[in-house]
Amino acid sequence: MRASHLEDFYSFLRFPSVSTDDAYSEKVKACANWVVEKLSGFGLETQLVATHGHPIVWAKNKHQAGRKTVLIYGHYDVQPPDPLELWDSPPFEPVLKDGYVFARGATDNKGQILSHILGIQEMSEESGAGLPVNVHLVIEGEEEIGSGNLPGFLEQNRAALRCDVAVVSDTGMVAPGVPTLSYGLRGVTALEMKVTGPKMDLHSGIFGGAVQNPITALAQLLATLHDREGRVAIAGFYDRVKSLEEWEREAWRKLPIDGDEAVSKETGAPELFGEAGCSTLERLWGRPTAEINGIGGGYQGKGTKTVIASHAMAKLTFRLVPNQEGEEILRLARTHLQKNLPKGVTLEIIDGHSGPWYLTDPHSAIGEAAQRALRKAFNADVAVIREGGSIPIVSQFRSILGVETLLMGLALPDCRAHSPNENFPLENLEGGIRLNKAVLQELAQ
Ligand code: BES
Ligand code: MN
Repeated sequence: MRASHLEDFYSFLRFPSVSTDDAYSEKVKACANWVVEKLSGFGLETQLVATHGHPIVWAKNKHQAGRKTVLIYGHYDVQPPDPLELWDSPPFEPVLKDGYVFARGATDNKGQILSHILGIQEMSEESGAGLPVNVHLVIEGEEEIGSGNLPGFLEQNRAALRCDVAVVSDTGMVAPGVPTLSYGLRGVTALEMKVTGPKMDLHSGIFGGAVQNPITALAQLLATLHDREGRVAIAGFYDRVKSLEEWEREAWRKLPIDGDEAVSKETGAPELFGEAGCSTLERLWGRPTAEINGIGGGYQGKGTKTVIASHAMAKLTFRLVPNQEGEEILRLARTHLQKNLPKGVTLEIIDGHSGPWYLTDPHSAIGEAAQRALRKAFNADVAVIREGGSIPIVSQFRSILGVETLLMGLALPDCRAHSPNENFPLENLEGGIRLNKAVLQELAQ
């Protein structure tokens, strides 16, 4: 690999482009500007598109009539690096150890989108002919907060963005060296809840026993979300869930991985747990969930404090599968929470971001083209899977631009996306460059 590629990777990673926290917004913008410079530096016509939030980078080569047009999507924003004390090295000072680069965003998504950028750079510079297809690169800064401004951008530029297919590397490989085509993603929808009791924090001796404790009420309420076997207990939650097709069960059984072993190893959980009657891979890729992502209230400092808090809060997300619908799930959840609310408190629910699931056919003509490219780039059999994570915009590539998306991820199971010590192997940066070239070649035909 060229030395300049590694320098580019490090420069990209040094921007703390955390989209969720306004304190970083100048850094997010600086990161977007770096991407613009990088792309225009090897001849792409590139613009920075302002939005109500973080800007979108949009670049294209010189389009030629009669060629296929490929839209490559990725994101330059990252998740917050917290908790900082659990990192072995600072999150925005990339270091190389045993072939892996450690930094926030290394896998999700800077390493992956950079491999496409570098593949295109090499192709434009190496062959006199340039690229075999027309490309659009759309690299946004709000994926980790739900891509709120991207649908508007797609709508406004629908004609200019006309394309035949979208290509995204923002998903996983089932194991190192195993090229992976993902034909499905779960959706996600979020809500925040606040439980309120007394008008202020109270002395728990003077008032305890005579008023409801909001933290107790919240704990009781949250405990109604699941049964003890891990099934979501919200009425109607599973009504629209589509069962796996027989070919999917069959294909997943044949994967060169053991789902139970992989999840045990990666998570360190003392025991696997989940919906009865489903395999681990089915629980991850084919079943919906309700998750409590955060909970708070009361005294969290050192020592004890005899207090009854006025409020308690929790943040929830639901992972959705075909054919669940986000709005409906939120409605069912609200009804459930109100109905099960303990006495003596009030409940306020605020809806958060929402993004649909995605399911496509891995055996379509472009699906087969993707599989050929993956095989060529990694010289190994291709795993064909669904994913548990979400990339909300993918379903809008279909509904707004009318194209299917090829999800060809480069994230390894132990990449630690969203966690401390996130990392990406240089091997996959190189593999991604080969993949970019191979897929553009395959799609040109
Ligand atoms: N790259 C991930 C999504 C992903 C991870 C897909 C693993 C498949 C396997 C993406 O950057 C991400 O984290 N998305 C968020 C979306 C949410 C914030 C709307 C997610 O899945 O939590
Ligand atoms: Mn992510």
